[in-house]
Amino acid sequence: MTENKTVTVPLFIREYRALQEVLRLKNPVISYPACGTDISLAKVFPESETYYIDTDANCIELLRQAHLPAKSYLIRQSAYEYAPPDPVDLVVLRAASTDAADVVGLVRGLKQGGYVIESHWGSSSGARKLLADPQFKLIGRMEYDDIKDTCVFDTQNVAAITQQLIGDTDVISKYAGKGYVFQKIT
Ligand SMILES: C[S@@+](CC[C@H](N)C(=O)[O-])C[C@H]1O[C@@H](n2cnc3c(N)ncnc32)[C@H](O)[C@@H]1O
Repeated sequence: MTENKTVTVPLFIREYRALQEVLRLKNPVISYPACGTDISLAKVFPESETYYIDTDANCIELLRQAHLPAKSYLIRQSAYEYAPPDPVDLVVLRAASTDAADVVGLVRGLKQGGYVIESHWGSSSGARKLLADPQFKLIGRMEYDDIKDTCVFDTQNVAAITQQLIGDTDVISKYAGKGYVFQKIT
């Protein structure tokens, strides 16, 4: 559910730091469709050209009041229709996909070689749709260690992660809620 205030989420920030380090992202152009009021990206990528896209006027107003970094663009439009004017390096999908949603249709303007992080607390269906699309290659998944309080971007076990996703048809899925990272290959 979208909150009535802007939020920063420590877990998301960790994921972005891990992505930044492993993929060597320097000020990527970012698209965040169905952003809600989540401004975590601004903590890790303050210099980035970042497109926050949401249909909800209240979300956009709350984002406006948050005084985000200079190159933050707030777009009130359907993310199925809007594509940023510049080629995108990273698309962030968070709780944007449901079984009914066309998650691939939200990935607009991503350049070849660019990345998508897809995460949904309740379902891995968005990740499975990206996995099934030949435009995208799974390159890893965020793994958390609650005891050590760490987040590691695992790029070493893609074959095993792929098998887990393919077999994951549970409604209440243990493979949901993780950040799946894809690269656009065509
Ligand atoms: C569950 S919230 C997720 C918010 C945020 N990504 C997060 O993880 O905190 C889903 C958001 O998608 C937005 N939304 C729904 N349909 C949309 C569309 N077609 N284009 C853009 N945003 C949309 C809603 O307004 C809502 O803010």
